[in-house]
Amino acid sequence: MSRRNQVPLVVIDRVHKHFETKRGLLHAANGVSFTIYQGETLGLVGESGCGKSTIGKLLASLLTPSDGKIYFDECNINEMNKKERKKLRRRIQMIFQDPYSSLNPRMTAEEIIAEPLWIHDVGAKPERPLRVAHLIDLVGLPRNALKRYPHEFSGGQRQRIGIARALALNPWLLICDEPVSALDVSIQAQILELLKNLQKELKLTYLFIAHDLSVVRYISDRIAVMYLGQIAEIAPTEQLFKAPSHPYTQALLSAVPVPDPIIERSKNRAVLQGDPPSPINLPQGCLFCSRCPQAQFKCQGKRPQLYAVEPGHLAACHLLEPSELILKE
Ligand SMILES: Nc1ncnc2c1ncn2[C@@H]1O[C@H](COP(=O)(O)OP(=O)(O)OP(=O)(O)O)[C@@H](O)[C@H]1O
Ligand SMILES: [Mg+2]
Repeated sequence: MSRRNQVPLVVIDRVHKHFETKRGLLHAANGVSFTIYQGETLGLVGESGCGKSTIGKLLASLLTPSDGKIYFDECNINEMNKKERKKLRRRIQMIFQDPYSSLNPRMTAEEIIAEPLWIHDVGAKPERPLRVAHLIDLVGLPRNALKRYPHEFSGGQRQRIGIARALALNPWLLICDEPVSALDVSIQAQILELLKNLQKELKLTYLFIAHDLSVVRYISDRIAVMYLGQIAEIAPTEQLFKAPSHPYTQALLSAVPVPDPIIERSKNRAVLQGDPPSPINLPQGCLFCSRCPQAQFKCQGKRPQLYAVEPGHLAACHLLEPSELILKE
């Protein structure tokens, strides 16, 4: 996608989300800011528990931010009236990791895909079966699949039904939360291909959440790397893989195996030591400091903000502060 035509569809502005737990306040999102442009796929990666699904749910209005703002098509989604909220629910749809638990086992594929049309009262009733037939064609399943129940499908086929249901209301944005993580590699490739084709055909925008970097690299135009409820780095996909700037991203990428065994053996691995700090007792300074191989004294002082390494490539690391960059030159 050309930079010049970029129109923001989603703007997440300094969003915080904490959960009250028995052990204290759990900080799942700590000042997250990023934009998703119309027609792009933004990948969101990071270790388990870093807050990826929380961001997805905040955007889908399944959770409310503790602080900060989320704009969709220039409107603050937490200040919408009932009518606007209903419209928003049509525009933003989610696809989940486990299609089996997200599909009602007592409903046929036809009923599952048609359900959003009934709930939102979309289209004339006699036309709904036609719409459902069109959706099942779109996701590459035969029409006779419509009469079958979720347990009669494979994992990949179930995910296709989940996608058909998500498309029923002509959404603008699909939040895909680990949509292929539970599938075999060959099936993963088919579903990713389907998502890519649908994006082109229906002009969709994706927030694609995953922990598998090769999956995210394949599907994303840009990638945001999360660490402990913060964006550590965000950049166009190939730029991120070519020149990762944040020590956390460098460590994540060095753990991805390269197909060539000679390159693989000669690779310098930046292995991550230890576990992330608890999201309940967050350190004062840089959240990655305790595991960072490049940490310096000043990293313990305050949280780094996102600095522009290059246009469109930002990283939250004190070592990338503009004055530091000049000193390094
Ligand atoms: N409803 C909740 N109540 C309390 N804590 C929660 C709740 N939802 C999420 N959390 C916590 O918030 C943090 C972020 O969780 P989240 O599910 O967003 O992570 P994730 O990056 O999606 O992880 P995974 O890769 O395992 O799916 C975790 O520490 C999690 O335990
Ligand atoms: Mg998750």
